[in-house]
Amino acid sequence: MGFEPIFFLPPSFINLLNLHYLKNFIRHYTTATYIDVLHSPFVYELYQSCIKKQTEVPLVFKEIETLRTQLLHNNNFIAYTDFGASAHYKGAKKNIKISSLARKHLKPARIAQILYFITHHYPYQHIIELGTSMGITTSYLATGAQNHINARLQTIEGCKDVFGVAAKVFKQLNLGSAIKSHHGNFDEVLPNILEEIPSLDLLFVDGNHSYEATMNYFNQSLSKIHNTTLFIFDDIYWSTEMTAAWEEIKCHPRVSVTVDLFFIGLVYFRKEQVKQDFKLRVF
Ligand SMILES: C[S@@+](CC[C@H](N)C(=O)[O-])C[C@H]1O[C@@H](n2cnc3c(N)ncnc32)[C@H](O)[C@@H]1O
Repeated sequence: MGFEPIFFLPPSFINLLNLHYLKNFIRHYTTATYIDVLHSPFVYELYQSCIKKQTEVPLVFKEIETLRTQLLHNNNFIAYTDFGASAHYKGAKKNIKISSLARKHLKPARIAQILYFITHHYPYQHIIELGTSMGITTSYLATGAQNHINARLQTIEGCKDVFGVAAKVFKQLNLGSAIKSHHGNFDEVLPNILEEIPSLDLLFVDGNHSYEATMNYFNQSLSKIHNTTLFIFDDIYWSTEMTAAWEEIKCHPRVSVTVDLFFIGLVYFRKEQVKQDFKLRVF
């Protein structure tokens, strides 16, 4: 049962200009565990059912990817309000082409599809995504979650125009009723959602990549975790701040297992599990 020994460049070429990212990418791919020597049955099962490249994929992948291609070729302008960590002035508006934003923001298909397999395989009920952007990854999460009758996905986006683009994507995929979209700042909307849900099964953090914000979302969301809750953090090597947050999360006393896929990091709180940090390759 070998791992595909392929050494691919990361899909986001912009990040090749980011020395911190590049250095960690090389470190990751030279130290990641091969699945043959993975001794944790829990992580082995996660790998086999969700991370490993699946030979059969659902038809909906093609539909979502068609919409991604349309966004990547859409030269209409929208007013983009940046709330994220790279914003020089939070809340400042600028006109930007949908295609440029799609190139910058959307998670590569391979990673978004891993998220689909996770929500499809595990019966997560209360799912929160921070950072809808144009809804491509949200659509993968939501279609996977449709495998479980009680699953509820809530997603938050701060920019009004981007929120509008995502709404159209959900409509085209008939996902309008499967997704509860919130327009607003994570800092204001997340506490309300956490208050309203009985427990949190899956949290996907893909926005506002600063150390402080990431740690805040992590600490706030801990109030609703249970033994099988999963937190996923995007872009853990995007900056030294994000890597510092990732290292701190790994050491948190309530965290047991972490799985570092370089592009995203998975965090588990399973009490029966020995504390262990895994690094696996996805490309
Ligand atoms: C990297 S994009 C998300 C990409 C998306 N998950 C995907 O792969 O399709 C991050 C999004 O989070 C939004 N965002 C960042 N910080 C935010 C905040 N504090 N409140 C609300 N939205 C925020 C940005 O406007 C942006 O659309």
